[in-house]
Amino acid sequence: MKISSRGVNMPASPIRKLVPYAEIAKKRGIKVYHLNIGQPDIPTPEVFFNAIRNHSEEVVAYSHSAGIYNLREAFSKYYRSWGIDVSPDEIIVTNGGSEAIIFAIGSIADPGDELIVIEPFYANYKGFASMLNVKLVPVSANVTDGYRLPPIELFEKALSNKTRGIIFSNPSNPTGVVYTREELEALLDFARAHDLFVITDEVYREFVFDGKNTVPVLSLDESERIIIVDSISKRYSACGARVGTFLTKNKELYNTVMKFAQARLSPPTMAQVGTIGLLNLGKDYTDNIREEYQKRRDIVFEELSKIDGVIMQKPEGAFYISVKLPVKNSEDFVRWMLTDFDVGGETTMVAPLQGFYATPGMGASEIRIAYVLSAENLRKACEIIRLGLEKYLGSL
Ligand SMILES: Cc1ncc(COP(=O)(O)O)c(C=O)c1O
Repeated sequence: MKISSRGVNMPASPIRKLVPYAEIAKKRGIKVYHLNIGQPDIPTPEVFFNAIRNHSEEVVAYSHSAGIYNLREAFSKYYRSWGIDVSPDEIIVTNGGSEAIIFAIGSIADPGDELIVIEPFYANYKGFASMLNVKLVPVSANVTDGYRLPPIELFEKALSNKTRGIIFSNPSNPTGVVYTREELEALLDFARAHDLFVITDEVYREFVFDGKNTVPVLSLDESERIIIVDSISKRYSACGARVGTFLTKNKELYNTVMKFAQARLSPPTMAQVGTIGLLNLGKDYTDNIREEYQKRRDIVFEELSKIDGVIMQKPEGAFYISVKLPVKNSEDFVRWMLTDFDVGGETTMVAPLQGFYATPGMGASEIRIAYVLSAENLRKACEIIRLGLEKYLGSL
């Protein structure tokens, strides 16, 4: 039997592929601090579970393919509180932000078409594009420039007659960069000049530090080229609920995405019921969570600053930091930490950054740390990385 070349060429998740080494370490009795995946440790708010418990329907039925209307209304209210003016009819509830991205790419690009992506980027964009036979054309941001928006000339160079759009996350996973109004305006000017769609992935919208805020792209351009991808996974620590959204003011695009949504019938009904509860929480809840991540960001930055030879910028948002280490092959270092190193029976797992780039060879010395553990565990984990790196460099 033959497996499709699409399937064969589908990239494995760069975050999950080292997991077997962590499992072997655990079997040896080693405690592994997981800084490799953006799975927050913060409890999902009680209202999520209560809303589900209080749900009185006797059948767990399919919902409307665009999502339960009351939920879309609640989302619309939430978005308006962020200056994002969308009605319930401009929202499609999806199985996580992931499905919203797949629907977006599938609706704007044909097989063989291209999307420009700012690298390093959320690694699963590669998988989604590959699934749809769409090519990602990278424009590289650089750790030494704090991973800021690359010059627009580089975007011009990445253009071809197959380019259909740009995709990026803001705040950025994996760099923690939050684009300024000027950067977003420059990107939008570029998109307008070349008639491209703009997919902005705003799943970390609330997590912007030091009193700053994200500038929602829809507040700068309400045109039909804008697509927003969103998710409750990180905001409410509800990754397993699988609830996200696709937003557009482009009717033709909306109707196209609805065909995808109808084909998969419905987003998860019970999780949608729980999400209505979450959206009633308001900004007080997310303000507290943001403060917690800011505290963790400060700890990780302070601890990593003690390591000789690291290059990094203080993240402005999300809950990741990308760091350049004085190693040639960060994947080898990450694996070695799991197979050959521990401090008193404890070690760490972080994500090598190569898989977050589309350009071969880029990111070979970089790692991403997700600061999704308690302050105390983060301090311990960073110290283990410092000691591990000393030994690794000594042992080479
Ligand atoms: C930037 C970004 N977009 C989208 C997602 C997808 O999340 P989900 O499908 O859980 O909503 C993630 C998850 O880590 C992410 O970091």
